[in-house]
Amino acid sequence: MGVFRRREFLKGVGTVFLGQALIAKSVQAQEKEQDWFKTINRAADPDNLTATEKKHAPVIGIPGYVKTNQVFFLTVEVGRTLHVMTPNHWIMWIEVYLGNSLVSRTEFSPLSPQPSVTIPLSVGGPTTLKVMEQCNLHGIWESKVNITPM
Ligand SMILES: [Fe+2]
Repeated sequence: MGVFRRREFLKGVGTVFLGQALIAKSVQAQEKEQDWFKTINRAADPDNLTATEKKHAPVIGIPGYVKTNQVFFLTVEVGRTLHVMTPNHWIMWIEVYLGNSLVSRTEFSPLSPQPSVTIPLSVGGPTTLKVMEQCNLHGIWESKVNITPM
């Protein structure tokens, strides 16, 4: 009887460990098989970025003070942890929009040392600045900021 109980107990423990291993493997498979190209990706919580969000969400730099119809310079970097530029993994382009109008598109090859741009802009009134970029492996990413000129 004692042997039976021990055997049943070990079977139960084995089942639990096997179940946990399968769940862990399933989560890994989901992350690996995530289709980054099925949608436009955005950082879910800017204060708590995932590793992929840190590498891909465009980082928008604008002056704290923007005057109506006066030129200012936008800087964009991809991302907070600068994305690699290698022959197998690189940022293909960065686009800048005011509202829904394209202002600038910069193409990159893997030979570019870093995925960043500086663009002159001016705005005539409150608008949304949208920046998009595409990674060859991780799809299109977007960041937005509202601008209210003084
Ligand atoms: Fe990437």
